[in-house]
Amino acid sequence: MTVCVLHVAAEMFPLLKTGGLADVAGALPPAQSRVGTDVRVVLPGFPSVLAGLSDLQPAADLGAAFGAGEVRLERGVLKPHGVVVYVVRADSFYDRPGNPYLDAAHRPYADNDRRFALLGLCAARIATGADPAWRPHIVHAHDWHAGLAPAYLRAFERSGAPRVPSVMTVHNLAYQGVFPASHFGALHLPPDFFSVEGVEFYGQISFLKAGLFYADRITTVSPTYAREIQTEAQGAGLHGLLQTRTHDISGILNGVDYSIWSPAADDVIASRYTAAKPSAKSKCKTALQERMGLARDDDALLFGVVSRLTEQKGLDLLLSAVPDIVQRGGQLVVLGTGDPALETGLKNAAAAHPGAVAVELGFDETLSHSIIAGSDIVMVPSRFEPCGLTQLYALAYGSLPLVHRVGGLADTVVDCSLENLADETATGFVFERFERAGIVAAIRRAFALKSRRTEWKTVVKRAMSQNFGWEAAAQRYADVYDELLA
Ligand code: ADP
Ligand code: GLC
Repeated sequence: MTVCVLHVAAEMFPLLKTGGLADVAGALPPAQSRVGTDVRVVLPGFPSVLAGLSDLQPAADLGAAFGAGEVRLERGVLKPHGVVVYVVRADSFYDRPGNPYLDAAHRPYADNDRRFALLGLCAARIATGADPAWRPHIVHAHDWHAGLAPAYLRAFERSGAPRVPSVMTVHNLAYQGVFPASHFGALHLPPDFFSVEGVEFYGQISFLKAGLFYADRITTVSPTYAREIQTEAQGAGLHGLLQTRTHDISGILNGVDYSIWSPAADDVIASRYTAAKPSAKSKCKTALQERMGLARDDDALLFGVVSRLTEQKGLDLLLSAVPDIVQRGGQLVVLGTGDPALETGLKNAAAAHPGAVAVELGFDETLSHSIIAGSDIVMVPSRFEPCGLTQLYALAYGSLPLVHRVGGLADTVVDCSLENLADETATGFVFERFERAGIVAAIRRAFALKSRRTEWKTVVKRAMSQNFGWEAAAQRYADVYDELLA
């Protein structure tokens, strides 16, 4: 039997992206098609989503919901891979300029609970037959935005609808979709769902908790993070619930879409290169130095960062180590957007070290590729990291990752310690403790390896030959679905 799965997400590359969730929602479905799963995706009808789909057609009228007016379901195709995408048309909810979650003043929209409840509700409607042409066996919800989908499925089941099992994937436990209890009535869930055994979380409503409670299976995006979120220290208040569900939790490592992230085929970088012929990588470095106003110097060890600027990403720790990079003749380039205090701190570092530190604030897909390709080292010093994708992209481009040993970073990067170099497993630089001494020691290891030209080249080659393709994850998800339907 072909298993039909509906993914429920807020973002999907290349239609809309603010972070790694979009990369996953864009790459996992086509990989799943290749292993024989019949997958479709449902997204909110944000303007860029509507603009990016082909053959948009009406699929169902869903009536009025949550004060959004008449809600329509449309169906389109995402070229070139041809994944079918449903969009929830509720223009009063989704047709807003700028960030999909935040208003012009960078505050969450006041109606975010109803905006994303509608996404979950529509997923449950599709699962119970809203589109006569296709119906999933399983609903697969991603992050808090989709967290109510499993809850609505249970509510429908109680009213006599057939049971449709669901999977909840946690991409980041830090974002939980928490709203005041007084909004519960507006969500049209059965009253008894507002309970510890339900959507209630310390007196409020939590969309993520709803998903974790009502979904049949829980996955997260790396094996280490799957263990971490079951501890009090890293469970963000949900470790108790997660511990009770330990047998339903799997950690499935994200992959890389090598059709987008491959230095041999990337047409936005200055020059293409491969592991067998890596010499043109230096052209990417020169182009990046020029683009960012850094001194043109092939010998300067160039550290790159592409990141959301939030506390999670640990860039405050990196700021404390900037002098250690610059004093050794290194350079730093950062592309990011987010927390104003971090933006200011980074800009100040650039002003203090002209020609050696350069910062670009904003979201720029093309520049992100140029940095991943042109850097010698890509830094991901996160406090916590469910999976992390930039370190995987860096490996593919032979830009050695320098990471904190946490979450998916711990699962994907092997430190250039003497023993790992001897064992021929080293692919980057890993520090254990989130403190200045740790990151500085890793930076020193990077400079030390760079000065040993042959060993550096060997590690770069090994990094580039790692395979983090999506096929393995697609197969693991297929196993989860099979277990659910058995
Ligand atoms: P997270 O999802 O926590 O932000 P990931 O490493 O999983 O972290 O994914 C981040 C994705 O977003 C990567 O594709 C990265 O290149 C991209 N990204 C982050 N910040 C920017 C930015 N300022 N400009 C362009 N791309 C960015
Ligand atoms: C989240 C996490 C990141 C992960 C991404 C995709 O945004 O912060 O670690 O790679 O989701 O799963």
